[in-house]
Amino acid sequence: MSAEGLDAIFSPRSIAVIGASRHRGKIGYEILRNLIVNEYQGILYPVNPNATGIHGIRAYPSISDVPDPVDLAVITVPSDLAVDAAKACGEKGVRGLVVITAGFREIGGVGVERESRLLRICESYGLTLIGPNCMGVINTHPDVRMDATFAPTPPLRGGISLVTQSGALGIAILEHARTLGVGFAKFCSLGNKAQVSLNDLLTSWRADSETKIVLAYIENFGNPKNFVRIARATTKEKPVIAVKSGRSEAGSRAAASHTGSLGGSDLAAEAVFSQTGVLRAGSIEELFDLAMAFSLQPLPRGDRVAIVSDAGGPAIMCVDELVAQGLRLAELSPATQAFMRSWAPAEASLRNPVDLTPQGTLEDYRRALEAVLADEGVDAAIAIYVPPVRVDEVDVARAVWQTAKAHDKPVLCNFLGRSEDSPGFVELVSHGVPSYLFPESAARSLAAMYRHGQYRKRDEGTERTFPVDRDGAAAILARATEKGRSRLLNDEANAVLAAYGIQTAKARLVRRLEDLSPAAKEIGFPVVLKAVGPEIVHKTELQAVALGLRDDKELLDAASRMERRLRQRHVVLDGFLVQEFVEGGKEVILGMTRDRVYGPLLLFGLGGIYVEYLKDVSFGLPPLTDRDAMRMIESIRTYPLLRGVRGEPARDVPALQEAILRLAALVSDHDSIQEMDLNPVIALEHGRGYRVVDARIVLTPASPGTGAE
Ligand SMILES: Nc1ncnc2c1ncn2[C@@H]1O[C@H](COP(=O)(O)OP(=O)(O)O)[C@@H](O)[C@H]1O
Ligand SMILES: [Mg+2]
Repeated sequence: MSAEGLDAIFSPRSIAVIGASRHRGKIGYEILRNLIVNEYQGILYPVNPNATGIHGIRAYPSISDVPDPVDLAVITVPSDLAVDAAKACGEKGVRGLVVITAGFREIGGVGVERESRLLRICESYGLTLIGPNCMGVINTHPDVRMDATFAPTPPLRGGISLVTQSGALGIAILEHARTLGVGFAKFCSLGNKAQVSLNDLLTSWRADSETKIVLAYIENFGNPKNFVRIARATTKEKPVIAVKSGRSEAGSRAAASHTGSLGGSDLAAEAVFSQTGVLRAGSIEELFDLAMAFSLQPLPRGDRVAIVSDAGGPAIMCVDELVAQGLRLAELSPATQAFMRSWAPAEASLRNPVDLTPQGTLEDYRRALEAVLADEGVDAAIAIYVPPVRVDEVDVARAVWQTAKAHDKPVLCNFLGRSEDSPGFVELVSHGVPSYLFPESAARSLAAMYRHGQYRKRDEGTERTFPVDRDGAAAILARATEKGRSRLLNDEANAVLAAYGIQTAKARLVRRLEDLSPAAKEIGFPVVLKAVGPEIVHKTELQAVALGLRDDKELLDAASRMERRLRQRHVVLDGFLVQEFVEGGKEVILGMTRDRVYGPLLLFGLGGIYVEYLKDVSFGLPPLTDRDAMRMIESIRTYPLLRGVRGEPARDVPALQEAILRLAALVSDHDSIQEMDLNPVIALEHGRGYRVVDARIVLTPASPGTGAE
């Protein structure tokens, strides 16, 4: 996808509307009309075999009859004609196509075939294709002024570019944004994404000086790995705010493994967003909240927030949300407080949050906001106002925006309980102060701005490569698949891990009781004994693990007890694993589950019983940088336990970090690994590494045919 290609879409010098219509309500009518009434700056060519003129403009029977060059064609004719129209456009030398017409891949069957024909035509003529099945494109630049959609009202001009996988939702967003005073640079409804993808637009908008903020409504990622790479670079320069609907396969498939069953809804998407710095809005409403904040106010320089309010309740709600979002309440300087004390009502509380109470006058409110914004210890302010009957809300709104304008710190406002079309609200947003119906929305939006600022400064780290025995691991995996096994045997799992330099506990697999002592001697007492067999998966439940065996007698006793118990339960016993007893560590879990779309999704968390009960885990999507791996470790709640608390030693976090990266390499190199649970991995003291003591590796079932040779 070339930059010039998208240029033909967003800055065409001429547009043909194929299927332009004289009949109100038809899409071909609305699009041509929107282009005209919104003052498209280029030349328009309506194409319709049954009309000589539309909206007073000369029409042509077909694109080939247009006498001049055409940059962009917007196709609205029925699907059985659309593909031929595209071909005619190719012949004519048109550069870009926006295919509004539906009836392609989304209907299945003939539609799928029709879409591939359309795509082939575009490829053979070098046409850039948006859609099909989309709602069109907009560019508000004064030199272009193109509204090639059938949206009822054009957007205001501004710095937001919106890309959407749902056209209808996109248009609803444009509509609503108007009432919030939020303006747009570009709009693109992707439709079926036959050719131009979300990633193409991100790449293009990253370099687009008109686009200050990218908004995206995403239903699915075509290529998550590319998205990670592109989004990561884009968010270093401008905020990308996304709403993602739908659940990932990893989330909805309730796999039998720990890793799989921890899947709530779309963890992979969460991992994508946190790795790339894309701000995820939980709802369309929040998307607006954030868009308003980012488009109207500067980023905060720090995390210290002051609140000015005329009521205690909402101020407290606001504080709670600020803190939950990782921001801090600013400490107002004694001078600021003393100054406010000199005029504020006696009932007022002048420590942050400043509560002037309903006794505060309009002037008090203005001066308080001014005082906190002037305070060196304040990075941002939230003005909360519960309109009492006796003060005109527009006066308050004016006081807020005027004061905000005089400072380069962000100010967000909560006009509690007012609708978005109340006069005070309109006064605020039309003068550049984002305003919210509820205090929490203001707090969340400010926090998102802070996070974005942090993200831009954050070090992304580097991708590391390790010397590994790729072929060795592949051979083991292939052999197991050939034998029709879906799970690696114990020693196979250890060998695969070892091939990637992942530290496993020393272990020997023995078949006969008389081999136990020599194995233990080799490893060194104390040892751990584990029963091995095809059905022995959750060993603890079967009492098939004995820890800390100190000598031959304890070892042999444990083995015969285990054998007897398993025989009673009719569990097949193949042998025993004698393993090094790893003492004095903290148990963590490393896991992986493979998603059809996202590929391998890694999991890190506190191990043992905690993982299931506390669900204290974090996720990462390879390719991972060293910083990504570190963030996975740091972002679990119990990270302080690894860092060392209350005199406990610090664990070898750098070694764990490397283990995550090596695991990422392993699962990226070998698609046949479907799921993996390393639980526990025992993290030793700093400098001593870690040991994997239990590894479960599940293979992708061989697809029919592959096992043949
Ligand atoms: N080699 C070992 N050193 C120290 N503790 C171990 C060792 N192997 C297992 N354990 C402990 O025993 C628990 C159960 O063993 P594990 O092999 O994970 O069996 P399973 O998960 O199948 O029940 C582990 O969570 C860990 O606490
Ligand atoms: Mg285990």
